[in-house]
Formats: sequence, structure tokens, C-alpha cells
Amino acid sequence: RRTAVVIPAAGRGVRLGPGAPKALRALNGTPMLIHAVRAMAASRAVSLVVVVAPSDGAAEVKNLLDAHALPERTDYLVVPGGDTRQESVHLGLQALPEGITTVLVHDAARPLVPVETVDAVIEAVRDGAVAVVPALPVADTVKEVEPAEQPGDPEQVVATPVRARLRAVQTPQGFDHDTLVNAHATVALTGEGATDDAGMVEKLGAPVVVVPGHEEAFKVTRPLDLVLAEAVLARRRA
Ligand code: C5P
Repeated sequence: RRTAVVIPAAGRGVRLGPGAPKALRALNGTPMLIHAVRAMAASRAVSLVVVVAPSDGAAEVKNLLDAHALPERTDYLVVPGGDTRQESVHLGLQALPEGITTVLVHDAARPLVPVETVDAVIEAVRDGAVAVVPALPVADTVKEVEPAEQPGDPEQVVATPVRARLRAVQTPQGFDHDTLVNAHATVALTGEGATDDAGMVEKLGAPVVVVPGHEEAFKVTRPLDLVLAEAVLARRRA
């Protein structure tokens, strides 16, 4: 029952503004990716972490991992990524050795997820779930819109899903290894995309279960998120 984590870290991070690839930007002096790797390796259940680097940055990421103290009971691998998150995860899955039964997929852009959340996801998979997502209720009311016909025209609201039934899903998402590999193969064949890995498993018709997410597992996407992330780190140190 070996558990591996794939960390897609090949995104440019365009929404964060100009600069290095998002995963390599610093939070309180340490690259976001290193925080994310440490958050995964903090779980005693994790025996391997596969980092999917920007396609031209695998050597740089390898050096970065070597330069930072990481738990020794865990192995680390770096592979080059693809043009989409989905492709990057697929490349990470292909790099897994035989014998991995549980796979977690964790965004480098969620550097501060607590180990309790990681362990809860792993435990749910070991208890028999084929796919697990950590999730939180949403604060905002969410509307579905029809895209504008002409650039500059206003969007039209078409629906308001019942807020109490909506969840904002985070990572790490956890999977039975073969289920996730199948889901990626099937979705790649049909050419359909999904914005998260559990979404691909849903397309197979397999059940996805929810465990409680955590406020600190938020995704660093926009400049304000960097401010929040550094404040969370400062509070942890205090
Ligand atoms: O862009 P977004 O915030 O949704 O990215 C989520 C995660 O997927 C990030 O950790 C990012 O580095 C990764 N990603 C990737 N390969 C891409 C695009 C995004 O590994 N081509």
C-alpha cells in the first residue's frame, strides 16, 4: 500500500503577474514549490513525491529540491511537464514506479495545506474510496453565465445553483492508482478536458467522495493570495 504524490508545478502563473513560473516564486524567501513538497512529505504515509516541472526547467527544479532540507524517508523525482495541467499530471503518473496503490495529486500552488488534510485524504482512499476530494462550503453565491456574444457585451446570468449544495474543491485529491490512470487515458482518448483530476474520474462514472478541506489549502492564484500566504506563514512562526 505505497502512496505517491504527483505535484503539477509546470504552470506559468500568468494571473499572478509577470515573473518566474508560479511554483518557483518565493513565499517568505522559500519557493512555493518547496513549501508544497514539504507539506506532502510531512505525511508519514507518503513514500514518493513526483514534481512535474516547467518543460524547460526540470534541471533547475531538481537543483532546488537538492538545495532544501526535505524529509529523508521520502523519495523525490522531477519530470518535465506539458502545456496543460492535465498533461502535466499525466506525465507525472507515467513516471510512477510499480507498486504504488494510492496516488495523490497536489497543486504546487497550494503550498500551505496542513498535514491533517493530507492524511485525511489518504485515509479515505485506504478505507476504500477510489477518489477523494477535500472541499469547503462556498462563501459567495455562484452564478452560471452565458459568455458574451461580442467582446465588451455584458454576460447574462443563466442559473443560480443552490449555494448550500456547492463545494469549492482543493488538493491534494486522492485516488486508487489504477482508477486515476484509467481516467486520464480515457479522457485523453475522448479529447475532453477537466479542471481537476476528480472531474476525470467522474466522467468514468466512478464515485468521488468529499472530506473536509482546510482554509489554509487555498490556491495562490492572484497577487492578493501571496499576501495572505505570507501572513499565514508569519502566524505559524509566531
Ligand atoms: O493555473 P492553475 O492555478 O489552475 O494551476 C494549478 C496547478 O497546475 C499549478 O500548480 C500549476 O503549476 C500546474 N500546472 C502544470 N502544467 C500546466 C499548467 C498548470 O503543472 N501546463
